[in-house]
Amino acid sequence: MLPEALLARWLQRVEAQLEAALPAATQSPERLHAAMRHAVLGGGKRLRPLLVYASGAATGADESLLDAPAAAVELVHAFSLVHDDLPAMDDDDLRRGQPTVHVAFDEATAILAGDALQSLAFGLLAGAPADASLRVAWLASLADATGAAGMCGGQALDMDATGRQLQPAALETLHALKTGALIRASVRMGALAGGADADTLARLDGFASALGLAFQIRDDLLDIEGDSAQLGKTAGKDQAQDKSTYPSLLGMDGARAELARQGQRMADALAGLPGAEALAQLGRFAAQRSH
Ligand code: IPE
Ligand code: IPE
Ligand code: MG
Ligand code: MG
Ligand code: MG
Repeated sequence: MLPEALLARWLQRVEAQLEAALPAATQSPERLHAAMRHAVLGGGKRLRPLLVYASGAATGADESLLDAPAAAVELVHAFSLVHDDLPAMDDDDLRRGQPTVHVAFDEATAILAGDALQSLAFGLLAGAPADASLRVAWLASLADATGAAGMCGGQALDMDATGRQLQPAALETLHALKTGALIRASVRMGALAGGADADTLARLDGFASALGLAFQIRDDLLDIEGDSAQLGKTAGKDQAQDKSTYPSLLGMDGARAELARQGQRMADALAGLPGAEALAQLGRFAAQRSH
């Protein structure tokens, strides 16, 4: 099957999984449940779940085994966006073309919805139809990627770097944590389901870390080059808030050169790995996307 057809099928799978995992908005506490559904459903590129499926496909995992980790990484991602948009952080009112959760609901509900989405993600993995050893390995990967050594740590570095200029190595660390960690975990969780050996896991991790950096550099470029309608979020925010980004440090051409370097790293990491066409396609998408 062509990568495009596979990706379309996986998109349908993850939408169904997310819909089934989220609590009904008719159930109490309705406002919290509605906010969780608002944060997750009806938008988003679903890149992280697609990476779980693609990495699973590259390592021979059974597709149904990938449903739980695919939904779990998207739930953590949605949680990170809800909190990223809060007034205390990036203070954004538009996300995926809709009002952000704290605008559509209120700040307390947004904080709680983010918290509850994170718990839902870990609960989904704990209860997945998989061997206990695989579930524990998934849980450990997602916990590392989400916490202080991963996304939350990166968000802390991002807040700390706002209003000042970082050295290139420090900016790379910031991006690797705030965005890269969850992307790496997505690829790793798919490969764990496929029973990949240490060598394959390491190769895929090299691919994923390049993809994570490329994805965030593209995000930083789009914040400058894109418009709000196309992005579904307010463009120009990074400069307005004096964020540390690749374009702010290296200029547009410097950021593009770094993006190209990461593209090459992705291609090198996958060279000679059979069955990795969908992964390669997602890598190109991450680097070239326009939204
Ligand atoms: C936005 O992520 C936040 C970053 C890590 C740059 P995405 O660009 O994947 O957002 P959605 O899920 O498609 O809305
Ligand atoms: C956020 O990075 C990364 C997260 C962990 C949520 P950004 O702050 O650049 O993401 P956007 O641009 O708001 O989507
Ligand atoms: Mg941010
Ligand atoms: Mg933001
Ligand atoms: Mg951004």
